[in-house]
Amino acid sequence: MKIFQIFLVTVYVIILCSGSRVLELSDKFSEIRKEGGQWLVKFYAPWCGHCKRLEPVWSHVAQALYKTNVRVGKVDCTRFPSLASEFSIGGFPTIKFITHDNDFTYHGDRNKEDIINFALRMAGPPVQEVTRAESLSNLKNMNQLFFMYVGEQEGPLWDSFNNIAEKMQPHGFFYASSKNVASIHVNFTTELPAVFVHKENVHYFYPIDLNISDPDHLNMSMYNWINEERFPTFPKITRGNINEIFQTKKYIVLAVVEENKLQSIPEEMLDFRDMVESVIKRNRDKYHREFQFGWIGTPELANSIVMQVLPLPYLLVLNSTTNHHHVLEDDPLQMTSESLEVFLERISNQTAPVYGGNSFGVKLYRMYFETRTSLSDIWKGNPVLTTVLFGLPLGFLSLILYSICCADILDADEEEEEELLHEKRE
Ligand SMILES: *[C@@H]1O[C@H](CO)[C@@H](O)[C@H](O)[C@H]1NC(C)=O
Ligand SMILES: *[C@@H]1O[C@H](CO)[C@@H](O)[C@H](O)[C@H]1NC(C)=O
Ligand SMILES: *[C@@H]1O[C@H](CO)[C@@H](O)[C@H](O)[C@H]1NC(C)=O
Ligand SMILES: *[C@@H]1O[C@H](CO)[C@@H](O)[C@H](O)[C@H]1NC(C)=O
Ligand SMILES: *[C@@H]1O[C@H](CO)[C@@H](O)[C@H](O)[C@H]1NC(C)=O
Repeated sequence: MKIFQIFLVTVYVIILCSGSRVLELSDKFSEIRKEGGQWLVKFYAPWCGHCKRLEPVWSHVAQALYKTNVRVGKVDCTRFPSLASEFSIGGFPTIKFITHDNDFTYHGDRNKEDIINFALRMAGPPVQEVTRAESLSNLKNMNQLFFMYVGEQEGPLWDSFNNIAEKMQPHGFFYASSKNVASIHVNFTTELPAVFVHKENVHYFYPIDLNISDPDHLNMSMYNWINEERFPTFPKITRGNINEIFQTKKYIVLAVVEENKLQSIPEEMLDFRDMVESVIKRNRDKYHREFQFGWIGTPELANSIVMQVLPLPYLLVLNSTTNHHHVLEDDPLQMTSESLEVFLERISNQTAPVYGGNSFGVKLYRMYFETRTSLSDIWKGNPVLTTVLFGLPLGFLSLILYSICCADILDADEEEEEELLHEKRE
């Protein structure tokens, strides 16, 4: 059987780029996947800039997963549009984990570690057992955010945890362990069974309320809690993960700074970012239910949300349900953690000024803003190219394609939520 599969793969699949472990898939893939096995597939188009940037990352991913059961492939959607429509590819690049009867879209940041973690999560069962204390200390040392259930694997709490882990498998790590193993590392403040999240070397327990006997209520409340807790306290926000962060349905508090190519940040911006971080680190209990903090290193992303080019650094607060935003007008370098806290309070009691949103006019203006800024970036980068671009109708086409490719980061929200809830459908 195995040999037959390998035969099939070598017959139907052309191995491209010598030295790379990435399999170039053709439309025969529809048949191949039915043979079983697990696939991590990148759907791309040759003209798409984001796809080109993913290329070296993808080779590394393939190399890292070479010894696992996950096979890594790519599909050129301009050559095999039937595959693109079979998997409902709506933008490039799209990364999917594919089994014989199911597929899951990756929504995170497109870096090597996150993509590999996604593949490893999907390749295992939704809840992975931890049976040895050493495995648990390894998990903690990996500095990875994870959820863990401790206790007998029966009863309503287990059912809900298991159920949610199945739905959330693409988005987080879920483990189960026994009291004996877990109590070596964790002091239990509640009775068992219990559920906790591990992040930044601290455990936070799921607050079990009195309604544990009502399964729907339990599902809902645990789902909400897991959704609230599944991000680090102060993550870096990128085009890749911003839609995921929006799923928390919290206010997103962002320190906008500028990172150079070596990923270093000027001193005064660093101070500002540290100040913002200190507010959530010191007041987690007060803010974390309503506010997700984070920082942005690419001002273009933030500018396209506020639709102006603001002087750096600045503080931006987004309402993830309405897409409205708030900007603090004071000089950010004068801003203290006290004035930030007052600002957050005014947002919370809805007395702070509100901008933007999702109305048609705002969307139109955002499109205009993005086109204008990307044009002026192209112009600054290469005036000759810009002239040539405008000389050709093709230039317009590629511009349109470019703006589709860098699709509006906020538009995909509702769809993605749908996916999150229905991903496991057969
Ligand atoms: C709640 O969890 C149970 C398992 O206890 C599962 O069968 C059920 O489908 C879940 N309900 C909802 C609304 O998700
Ligand atoms: C549990 O708490 C006790 C006393 O508060 C402390 O000495 C011990 O180190 C803690 N154990 C763990 C694993 O955190
Ligand atoms: C228990 O669940 C009901 C709805 O099922 C809800 O109205 C009530 O507030 C819940 N009680 C607690 C303590 O969470
Ligand atoms: C966003 O704005 C709406 C409408 O003003 C409000 O009801 C909601 O509480 C706000 N906050 C979040 C986090 O969505
Ligand atoms: C909202 O919060 C601000 C800052 O704490 C406070 O000054 C203001 O009185 C509050 N407004 C209302 C209507 O509660």
